[in-house]
Amino acid sequence: MPEIRILPDQVANQIAAGEVVERPAAAVKELLENSLDAGATRIGVEFRHGGKSFLAVEDNGCGMTPDQALLALEPHATSKIRAAGDLNAIRSFGFRGEALPSIASVSRFTLRTRPAEAVAGTEVLVNAGKLIHQKETGMAPGTRIEVANLFHPVPARLKFLKTENTETAHITRLVRLYALAQPQVNFRLEENGGEIFRSPVTDDLLERVRAIWGRQLAQDLDSFAPVEGQGMRVWGLLGKPGAGRSTRQEMVTIVNGRPVDSRTLAYALVESYHTLLPKGRYPLAFLFLEIDPACVDVNVHPAKREIRFRECGGLSSRRCCGIWKKRGR
Ligand SMILES: Nc1ncnc2c1ncn2[C@@H]1O[C@H](COP(=O)(O)OP(=O)(O)OP(=O)(O)O)[C@@H](O)[C@H]1O
Ligand SMILES: [Mg+2]
Repeated sequence: MPEIRILPDQVANQIAAGEVVERPAAAVKELLENSLDAGATRIGVEFRHGGKSFLAVEDNGCGMTPDQALLALEPHATSKIRAAGDLNAIRSFGFRGEALPSIASVSRFTLRTRPAEAVAGTEVLVNAGKLIHQKETGMAPGTRIEVANLFHPVPARLKFLKTENTETAHITRLVRLYALAQPQVNFRLEENGGEIFRSPVTDDLLERVRAIWGRQLAQDLDSFAPVEGQGMRVWGLLGKPGAGRSTRQEMVTIVNGRPVDSRTLAYALVESYHTLLPKGRYPLAFLFLEIDPACVDVNVHPAKREIRFRECGGLSSRRCCGIWKKRGR
């Protein structure tokens, strides 16, 4: 009979990493979300070689004490929830306490962090899940995490990475989505020291899109008056009739500040444009939905990319279509 054993943490984390961080952009996503949860108002993202050799996320958020920094690297260590019931109305991006240990188990991982009230920061270096050192370091308040040689400790996963250009495109799209979703935060994205975009804080959504995606895309968009009612609010920018796209890439849906894939919203959008776009073309849309968090289940996808709506207020794609059609779409 084969003997049953509990896996060592390092192996368990590497396996978990397979689900949480399937590519460099997924590591960037986890780090960005942590920065947002830490209350950052400024977030910088850098990467080289599509994030395969290096990526870093730096923020001016709340930082961590030396003890907390070590604890954060343990599996299931989180400051965001205390009981499963907290998931019923979650406002934070994180809740599983597995992103940092997962990423650190499959890379050379450097965490530098300092709370504003501390005089110095702490640096923790982990290689393939093994703690190499922790030492004091001088730094401004906030957190900087560097991830080098992602997946080198698990060569099987390296093989699944796509070309540098493809991985770069994934990172760029991801950071754009978060920059759009969180307009109160100043974002900056750099590749090999060159700036891809920066998005200064502004209340003007169209201006934000222009800073993030460029002038051309912004020209194809129109805003619509926010729609409010039955416990939700919808606003954003929609493509002018005829401004269709050949992919769903620019059909962006943001729910409670979280960029998500939602079949319900995607269906509603496509249906709303039914007669306005030729077959096979997709709407251009940057759509924000604010809804009671108790109506949204965010714990349905390993990388939290998808959400599901609970039938509280009765949100359905038909109802969303109804709302937008009323606006003349
Ligand atoms: N940039 C940061 N600034 C301040 N604290 C951070 C930062 N990144 C991580 N932390 C702390 O480390 C903890 C662990 O982070 P980790 O991403 O592993 O888990 P999580 O965000 O709680 O849940 P999830 O796995 O769903 O992302 C967080 O709960 C938070 O307390
Ligand atoms: Mg997290």
